[in-house]
Amino acid sequence: MTLQVVPTQPFSGQKPGTSGLRKRVAVFQQPHYLENFVQSIFDTVGAPEAATLTLGGDGRYFNRQAIQIILKMAAANGFSRVLVGLGGILSTPAASCVIRKYKTYGGIILSASHNPGGIDGDFGIKYNTPNGGPAPEKITEAIYESSKQITCYQILDAPDVSLDGIGETRLGDMVVEVISAVDDYAELMSAIFDFNAIKALFASGFSFRFDAMHAVTGPYAREVFINRLAAPETSLMNAIPLEDFGGGHPDPNLTYAHDLVTVMYGDNAPDFGAASDGDGDRNMILGRGFFVTPSDSLALLAANARLIPAYAQGIAGVARSMPTSAAVDRVAEELGIPCFETPTGWKFFGNLMDAGKVTLCGEESFGTGSNHVREKDGLWAVLFWLNILAIKRQPVENIMKRHWAQYGRNVYSRHDYEGLPTDAAAGVINHIHASFISLTGKQFGRYTIQVCDDFSYTDSVDGSISNNQGIRILFVDGSRIVFRLSGTGTEGATLRIYLEAYEPNRGQHHLDAQVALAEMIQIALDISELKQRTGRDVPTVIT
Ligand code: G1P
Ligand code: ZN
Repeated sequence: MTLQVVPTQPFSGQKPGTSGLRKRVAVFQQPHYLENFVQSIFDTVGAPEAATLTLGGDGRYFNRQAIQIILKMAAANGFSRVLVGLGGILSTPAASCVIRKYKTYGGIILSASHNPGGIDGDFGIKYNTPNGGPAPEKITEAIYESSKQITCYQILDAPDVSLDGIGETRLGDMVVEVISAVDDYAELMSAIFDFNAIKALFASGFSFRFDAMHAVTGPYAREVFINRLAAPETSLMNAIPLEDFGGGHPDPNLTYAHDLVTVMYGDNAPDFGAASDGDGDRNMILGRGFFVTPSDSLALLAANARLIPAYAQGIAGVARSMPTSAAVDRVAEELGIPCFETPTGWKFFGNLMDAGKVTLCGEESFGTGSNHVREKDGLWAVLFWLNILAIKRQPVENIMKRHWAQYGRNVYSRHDYEGLPTDAAAGVINHIHASFISLTGKQFGRYTIQVCDDFSYTDSVDGSISNNQGIRILFVDGSRIVFRLSGTGTEGATLRIYLEAYEPNRGQHHLDAQVALAEMIQIALDISELKQRTGRDVPTVIT
């Protein structure tokens, strides 16, 4: 085995987005592309002597090849040990759990989350810091700067390491330790939730369907739900991970989780349904014929946190991303705890959690989590709901309606316009920007605009400032429309329109959000001139 120093040239297009570097597989397969980025990570974070790294991915196409490259580069860059998931696989929350539990010098996670996989799909990579969370902007920026100046990378010339059995292998001076993170993760879950209560729920005949979407959570779901909680075998769907996710789009929403949606809206639907995404950090929650929006889910979890053993003493505070509905704000107010509004992307929650300011946090994009790790956590959210259901023993729909009766309802929906020409999408944003003054105070039927702004955030822990985080149109009654360009898309531009109408009249409103939001949708189309500027007025995906 010899250390090689390979000359290379910087690539353009290695700028990470909100969740790391995501590109088509073919881009990552270019010679030196992955290597450049990995070397830039190592150069930036500068591993101390005898450092251990956590490494794993969501199992999508190219995961195995990438893991071998990174192992050989870690060995050449002075790491003394790498903890790698069995088969090179770790769900994102499990990776965060492993980094924290074994106090490793951060970790590298290979995932393009909910984006399709396979040879024509997407691949992704990100570095998580030793607290288990995604690297903050100043580190990702530094990695990017380094990738623009790179002239060589270091790699060990060695045979591939077997990843298919638990145990240790030497790679030069480094030890590769293959671990079963499934057990580490299941143990963490059993320390948070009342597994006996959930077991009793299943024993009572409660029916459940979990859709792993052929992605990373299959083995985790089997260990937790079947082995530890004795749920019936029929509870699992699509639980075998596949490199291309079975050709599906592993994003748990009403459009893409169609197998589960068909079951939950069909005859004899189970009591409870849930799904998670490609790398296991997202979740969707369904009752029998009933969809719980992620924003409502966060609010409900916050309101019921004291029912859960780990949060029985109460929660310190909550945080939500800016486009997430203000439903949780109302719960926080009632509980007398702070509620933080952060930019989109999980990394902004980490500082607040590390500082003990926040216990629960979430995003409208099917992400919910707590300070047990520093990533959002799909199965954790499902277990949280199961624990609540085990205690309340009521249908999901009733639990949600009682919540609305108490707090009012923030009727909510997100409309995505995918694959727009970049110029047209920028034109829409610029146009709304230019209209701020004329929109202020303007009345549209029963809705009057109070103020428009471009969201910027000052981190209360490290003082860092993030500008241009999306346009907020705030209405007098607490309703909102938010316009934002996606930072994770890989094709053209994706415009997201987040629609939220506050209905204080405790439960009298239409259940179908699209109907209840009809006026808001029209206002959004009018003020954005979307049709004129993009030729579209029908979203690609509605959630
Ligand atoms: C999307 C979601 C965002 C989430 C991110 C990573 O980012 O909107 O909430 O944190 O994926 O899962 P976007 O494409 O909107 O930038
Ligand atoms: Zn994900």
